[in-house]
Amino acid sequence: MKPELGVCYYPEHWPETQWAEDAARMAATGLRWVRIGEFAWSRMEPTPGIFDFDWLDRAIDTLGAAGLKVVLGTPTATPPRWMLERHPEMLAVDADGRPRKFGSRRHYCFSDLGYRAEATRIARVLGERYGRNPHVQAWQIDNEYACHETTVSYSRAARDGFRDWLAQRYQSPEALNRAWGNIFWSMEYADFSEIDPPNLTVTEPNPAHVMAWRRYSSDMVVAFNAAQATALRALTDAPLIHNYMGAVLEFDHFDVGADLDIASWDSYPIGFLSDRLDETPEHKRRFLRQGDPDMQALHHDLYRSVGRGRWWVMEQQPGPVNWAPYNPAPLPGMARLWAWESIAHGAEAVCYFRWRQAPFAQEQMHAGLLRPDSGAAPALAEAETVAAELAGMPDIAPGRAKVAILFDYPSAWAWETQPQGADFDYFRLVLEVYRGLRTLGLNIDILPVETSDLSGYGLVLAPGLFTMSDALKSRLQGFGGTAIVGPRSGTRGPEFDIPVPLPPALPGLDATISLTESLPPSADEPLEAGGAIGCWLERLEGTAEVVERTVAGQPVLVRAGGLHYLAGWPDPDALRRILARACAEEGIEITDLPDGLRLRETATQRFYINYNPEPVTHDGVTVPAAGVVWKDL
Ligand code: GAL
Repeated sequence: MKPELGVCYYPEHWPETQWAEDAARMAATGLRWVRIGEFAWSRMEPTPGIFDFDWLDRAIDTLGAAGLKVVLGTPTATPPRWMLERHPEMLAVDADGRPRKFGSRRHYCFSDLGYRAEATRIARVLGERYGRNPHVQAWQIDNEYACHETTVSYSRAARDGFRDWLAQRYQSPEALNRAWGNIFWSMEYADFSEIDPPNLTVTEPNPAHVMAWRRYSSDMVVAFNAAQATALRALTDAPLIHNYMGAVLEFDHFDVGADLDIASWDSYPIGFLSDRLDETPEHKRRFLRQGDPDMQALHHDLYRSVGRGRWWVMEQQPGPVNWAPYNPAPLPGMARLWAWESIAHGAEAVCYFRWRQAPFAQEQMHAGLLRPDSGAAPALAEAETVAAELAGMPDIAPGRAKVAILFDYPSAWAWETQPQGADFDYFRLVLEVYRGLRTLGLNIDILPVETSDLSGYGLVLAPGLFTMSDALKSRLQGFGGTAIVGPRSGTRGPEFDIPVPLPPALPGLDATISLTESLPPSADEPLEAGGAIGCWLERLEGTAEVVERTVAGQPVLVRAGGLHYLAGWPDPDALRRILARACAEEGIEITDLPDGLRLRETATQRFYINYNPEPVTHDGVTVPAAGVVWKDL
């Protein structure tokens, strides 16, 4: 595979006289892809049913004539103002019951069938016009589902849809009452029409109710996306893509991805560190202009899996963004490093966001590859460097991973519904496990829970899984390598019930969680072998072999053969020891990486990726500050 670079472009933002020059300059920079159209509905269909595609025809022709391949977006994240007149009920409604107003984007509710039909209609109209256009070589459906907390909407349409969904799932109110335990606090229903979304309750709603609601809300995203995908499939052979986000788990991306050909995501490393990561002030200071060293890679590996091997970065941060609490500029080198890191993890394309900084509207403080006056912004030269380096590079084939993490979106919803400890966060748990593995220099795969084939892996981690089927438990027992399950994994049944026999109930492993504690940050339990458990600690009964225990003598890691249960949340030192021991037992080679340096192997190269603001040397290889180098294997 020969990865390619691209850029996001908004022809409707610029005078038409500028398009040809822009296109020529993109091509001269070495860019091959250009994504357009995803917010341009008000220009495609200025009044209902009256289309104006002349400008888009000319934009696509101009870009295509310069040798660029177009990713055409369906504009359904930004329905124009007139849509509200036709569908006054289409607005998403927040948890306080307030409709979200027109005036930015993503104001629609996924459950509103009137709007869903309109979205499918515009996708079909675009497919009819451009489905066979030789320049349109990929499609993006909508833009960043879930952005601005828009997955869950408490609208009337959602309420009605939820009732139908419940009726199908449970068949009778009695079955639902039983499954949810509604006898508790006299919450029993006599009819599905009595059931509301779980907002505005006096105290917390039943977690089973919330979980059903979260599943329903995710299913609505899947259905919304599938409607457009089906419409486009009939009209084009070009691949269908969606651009997912970082640390946003509100819907099941594996389910949405099943209807698409390629997964892509929008990578804003510096914004994420400032806005989305719960890290120490020292960490945030050290990586202020580089981003967290593991955040991007984790998403690369996750979305590779969502795309069944095919994935892109659709939007790559080029300079300061506008939306985080603080928006520093990247260190020189980072716009190159982020692209190469993506490529090393298997990206087919990396597109910078955006071509030229817009001098108007909401994102006027967001950098592009060009300044508003068309002067080069710092990232332009770095994009050009990557393009030139790629041109001289042999094809890149994916590397193999011997280690996998099982990843599950419903687990994120479950622990958000019932954190039990203020710091218990599924994403943070997965990121810490991922970081622990990655600081040992490993290639990692991230796999969906039920569909993954574990053969070929030496070590599989299953942290924080909400439910575990018997089939999954036996697969983890029988795959032939080391499995580390927990903490908290399999501690609930699908209806948010505590299963009996008590968890984790792993085959052949005599260990039962007899009591669970969540711990505040100052109350870590030190381990005999060093490091500590914090945040979450489960007390185990049983005769299983103990591998790790607290200084007080409480078992925290037990095993039967390769199958382990981890009964707490280890700090980085303890985690490192646990992971290193498992790797040693499986004969998986590890290395001691300096802070901020990461490795990734493709089939033919080892990449050394340095997130530090100073050079580092490892393995006899010196990597410049904010730099990336590679050597042949
Ligand atoms: C993404 C979005 C883009 C733009 C960008 C700014 O979330 O898809 O349209 O808003 O962020 O960083």
